[in-house]
Amino acid sequence: MMFMMNPTAPVTIRKGLSGTASSRRRSGRGTAGPSIVPDLAPCGIMALASGDHPPSTRHNGAPPMNVLITGGAGFIGANFVHQTLVRHPDAKVTVLDKLTYAGNRGSLADLGERVDLVVGDIADADTVDPLVAGADVVVHFAAESHNDNSLRDPSPFIRTNLVGTFTLLEAVRRHKVRFHHISTDEVYGDLELDDPAKFEPTTPYNPSSPYSSSKAGSDLLVRAWVRSFGVEATISNCSNNYGSYQHIEKFIPRQITNLIDGVRPRLYGAGANVRDWIHVRDHNDAVWDIIERGRIGETYLIGADGEKSNREVVELILELMGRDPNDYDHVADRPGHDMRYAIDSTKLVQELGWSPRYTDFRSGLRATIDWYRGNEAWWRPLKAEVEAAYAAQGQ
Ligand code: NAD
Ligand code: DAU
Repeated sequence: MMFMMNPTAPVTIRKGLSGTASSRRRSGRGTAGPSIVPDLAPCGIMALASGDHPPSTRHNGAPPMNVLITGGAGFIGANFVHQTLVRHPDAKVTVLDKLTYAGNRGSLADLGERVDLVVGDIADADTVDPLVAGADVVVHFAAESHNDNSLRDPSPFIRTNLVGTFTLLEAVRRHKVRFHHISTDEVYGDLELDDPAKFEPTTPYNPSSPYSSSKAGSDLLVRAWVRSFGVEATISNCSNNYGSYQHIEKFIPRQITNLIDGVRPRLYGAGANVRDWIHVRDHNDAVWDIIERGRIGETYLIGADGEKSNREVVELILELMGRDPNDYDHVADRPGHDMRYAIDSTKLVQELGWSPRYTDFRSGLRATIDWYRGNEAWWRPLKAEVEAAYAAQGQ
């Protein structure tokens, strides 16, 4: 199957996908797009290849494994689709994605027939039910994901993050399908800069923004469906991801694409806020480890000890792009801006043996810069609108 870069392209019905109860799936079609492989290759970090993970045994021993990935045309979800097809070469992968402003068919374009893209809403039970019925596992990435957008208009966050997750939970409950819920460290609120503490699975929820509170609510729904209905689910809460295919509204790709355009990076407030950066591939490897070996009902925190202030990150981007590290602007701060996130991933490491592989932030960032330089066609159509929205709020 082929995909188009144009997210409004018509959707077609394809028949005959083997091995699942859902034999009819809607799909996109179109031209080839950017590949995941170039992003880490230039800096000598292992490129994504079939040797990355030994091909696994099939889920529940029943071939083929049908994996339903919600939000698979977004940043982390698209990387997860690519990684899944390396780790589980025989898997049948279906993506359910509404293709909001954040979804991009082009992020899956190089996968062609290997992925079925269903353009639809996770909050629409009629769309969700037959897809879940045909799946062995549902990996739930779909969300409204940007804090700044949630401050402009919280309503889509409530519908997608809460009603959407509820709709999926009801379907996996009905069809007894394994569910993994992707969540964020932001559900725990924030930490002081000088606090030695990190977030742990037992840290009380204390979200700050409409985005993080809607994610916190979705986590609680999952926990309740496990306890009350015996749904077989796990949850992961990860820190800030970076890598290829990230929407340019987000911090790192916004600064990289600004610099490509000759515009100075924009730092909210003083830039002292700390984020705990992890490469998207390390996040996704952990998700598969949890799906394969995690205990039902458990929450796993994913992080790679990557704490950096926003100022440090901007200065490093400037340096790597051959500019004066002080050549950036301070702009209006985000209301309610969380100060610091930090993840303690001991449980994941000790229980499941996961460890991050892309821990050299400098190399990962250089590779990410190279990816945005090499894939301008992917992000260019988004840039003017994103910057206009920021400009309207003094950012
Ligand atoms: P993203 O915004 O890049 O992608 C979200 C995807 O979901 C898009 O493809 C969008 O079209 C799709 N979507 C949105 N609403 C939908 C709906 N109603 N029905 C179907 N599809 C819909 O987000 P991301 O950064 O890739 O984040 C993915 C998940 O990971 C989210 O659940 C987010 O909360 C979580 N997370 C993100 C980070 C991070 O650093 N980006 C860190 C931890 C957790
Ligand atoms: O911690 C996980 C979360 O990380 C995820 O749940 C979210 O989906 C994801 O968007 C991310 O949230 P943040 O709000 O931390 O990410 P963002 O990229 O928006 O901003 C990172 C930091 O950079 C934050 O402190 C705000 C700041 N910032 C952001 C932008 C866009 C700037 O200083 N300038 C900017 O232009």
